Amino acid sequence: MIDREEILARIGAADDAASLEALRVENLGKQGKVTQLLKTLGKMSPDERKTEGPKIHALREAVQGALDARKAELDRAELEARLKTETLDLSLPTPAAPQGSIHPVSQVMDELAEIFADLGFAVAEGPEIEDDWHNFGALNIPEAHPARAMQDTFYIAQGDNEEGAPQVLRTHTSPVQIRTMMRDKPPLRIIAPGRVYRSDSDATHTPMFHQVEGLVIDRNIHLGHLKWTLETFLKAFFERDDVELRLRPSYFPFTEPSAEVDVGYSIENGRPVIGGRENWMEVLGSGMVHPKVIANCGLDPDEWQGFAFGCGIDRLAMLKYGMDDLRAFFDADLRWLRHYGFSFLDTPTLSAGVGA
Ligand code: PHE
Repeated sequence: MIDREEILARIGAADDAASLEALRVENLGKQGKVTQLLKTLGKMSPDERKTEGPKIHALREAVQGALDARKAELDRAELEARLKTETLDLSLPTPAAPQGSIHPVSQVMDELAEIFADLGFAVAEGPEIEDDWHNFGALNIPEAHPARAMQDTFYIAQGDNEEGAPQVLRTHTSPVQIRTMMRDKPPLRIIAPGRVYRSDSDATHTPMFHQVEGLVIDRNIHLGHLKWTLETFLKAFFERDDVELRLRPSYFPFTEPSAEVDVGYSIENGRPVIGGRENWMEVLGSGMVHPKVIANCGLDPDEWQGFAFGCGIDRLAMLKYGMDDLRAFFDADLRWLRHYGFSFLDTPTLSAGVGA
């Protein structure tokens, strides 16, 4: 016969989930003792079943109840033990654990997004592996055009895309202009920050660097809108009202007219300081989007005009935060990152000054 008290006592003494489960199988499993007992009911005479049935069912219920109760106790004990180890004293000072920092390039990208969001610009993206058409063709740089030599392109070996077009690492963020005009309906206002690649390396050039593209497409857009936007952007970025711009006539196949933009600076204690008209430094290329580019994207250039600009982000960071070698940006040297990096709490806001 089964010793009910013994089973219940053993269940009550089970000290972990595994031994509790073993006891469940031993008694209520398919071959379990109580299960076997239940099976004997079928072979009993009706009278016997009347007296034995309730006893056996009561036994099964008692065992099940004991298992449930013990499981609840074990769960509660486990939770209490965990809560004891997980107490958090908010009044303790933070531990001197190693801390990461925000890379100046990421910080500047956040600053740009903040400044341009205030002017109604959305952030757009495009792939870093581009096809020839988006990177060159649609931007009015046909094959064998001398402008291709302006940028030392990394071609991807056997990099043809599904349509058989050759692929490149994008040499500028301008292909995002094309992707945006093909995808969305004007009016458009976007910036597109991201990585770009050119086969070039010295103190002021790295094979990978960052640009931010700007694009506005709307009706009746003219050069004045471009100049005002760049002035507003650079004053907010450098957090100075005396930022001076100089627009120099230039040439890009995808803008007409085109202008390169210099900012004025002076040298203080051997470092360039933005402001004034003493010296000039080129910071970006810009112009009115060429009607051919607008037409290449399926828009009517008689209805839609716009301006675009492209600006080196790393250069902006160097100017604002005083680094002098671009290569250090990508060395992942912790000492450099600790010195020039930003706290993750330094979220750029226009009200507090985007420089954080
Ligand atoms: N894509 C050009 C460059 O990388 C910059 C540019 C962008 C010029 C948009 C005009 C308009 O040099």
